[in-house]
Amino acid sequence: MKIEHPTPINWQFAKRAEQLQSSVIREILKITMRPDIISFAGGLPSPATFPVEHMKAAFDKVLSQQGKIALQYGPSDGYAPLREWIANSLSIPGSVITPDQVLMVSGSQQALDLLGKVLIEENSKVLVETPSYLGALQAFSVYQPQFVSVPTDDYGLLPEAVDGIADGARLLYALPNFHNPTGRTMSVERRMALVETCARHGLPLIEDDPYGALSYRADPLPKMLTMNPSGVIYMGSFSKVLTPGIRLGYVVGPTPLIRKLEQAKQAADLHTSQLIQMVVYEAIKDGFLAEHIPSIRTLYANQCQVMLDALAEFAPEGVKWNKPEGGMFIWVTLPKHIDCMQLLEEAIAQKVAFVPGAPFYANEPEKNTLRLSFVTVPPEKIREGVATLAKLIAAKI
Ligand SMILES: Cc1ncc(COP(=O)(O)O)c(C=O)c1O
Repeated sequence: MKIEHPTPINWQFAKRAEQLQSSVIREILKITMRPDIISFAGGLPSPATFPVEHMKAAFDKVLSQQGKIALQYGPSDGYAPLREWIANSLSIPGSVITPDQVLMVSGSQQALDLLGKVLIEENSKVLVETPSYLGALQAFSVYQPQFVSVPTDDYGLLPEAVDGIADGARLLYALPNFHNPTGRTMSVERRMALVETCARHGLPLIEDDPYGALSYRADPLPKMLTMNPSGVIYMGSFSKVLTPGIRLGYVVGPTPLIRKLEQAKQAADLHTSQLIQMVVYEAIKDGFLAEHIPSIRTLYANQCQVMLDALAEFAPEGVKWNKPEGGMFIWVTLPKHIDCMQLLEEAIAQKVAFVPGAPFYANEPEKNTLRLSFVTVPPEKIREGVATLAKLIAAKI
């Protein structure tokens, strides 16, 4: 039976839904999925790093030995052995994290939404780096904050700028390791200064760290979480060290906040897949990541170098870029008069794509910036793509 001639619904979306917009990057990605395009646009990890056989074995073991538990509903805070594993991996002498400080989430992107839900009041101040991760701006904007941009330089966020803007802010969101989109790394001194400044103002500091394990150096820099576990909220993810398709991340913080986030998580989706958490625990519990991550770092470090060499060879005078110490991105700044949105159209016509920098700015965008990802494009194509892009830029200088 079907209703005849229903009255058409005039969809009236809630005010908060009006803030929702498709990410420009996801729109660009749709175009750049075409196989004939050399795409530096994606933020996707390289599929060459996905441990398919290892995951297959872990799925098989979990399903054959604990299938009935794995396929059942699970606790909202997550699978206890995995939370314990994460707490141990984040603990250092003098700064111990306990499992009840860990909440498993369906990708760390969900943590951004839950944090927005429980911390951001309409019109309240939220401090973000200039530029910042677009997915965080998207997640927070639903809660209608007033974004305040914290200035940055080539070494990341400037902690001394926070004093003048911290008053009344609900949180500061920072990406200290191999920043998305800039690829920058915040120095230890700046991390300490930022943690100290936030602690002085009683300002919650979110440390988003999906790329931290992908350091090209032997000695990764200390996490801000270890400097003040009572004031720093740490976000981690399995997306860049295992696979993103499993949608598994975690948020770590003081227990009153974690319990509130757990309630918000319960309301949103009850819990993150028990099956996936058990499989990931099975996959990593015997030290797999310690063998696997170095191979990701080596691949990314090599491809990063190919792109840096190509930029040095082909980029015209007036173009600047950074040398990342890890992660997946290079940030490029062109002469002020060049609009990268327009450049993108021309680049796509020449079968090369990148992400313009403007959408990553919460306030005044710098339209002459762009992000290049070097992890999914083979070396010879990196050279070809950079050469094409450099020619287009040179024609505008
Ligand atoms: C800075 C940053 N935070 C969070 C995320 C979300 O990661 P996921 O939800 O896959 O854990 C991403 C994804 O690219 C990211 O770049």
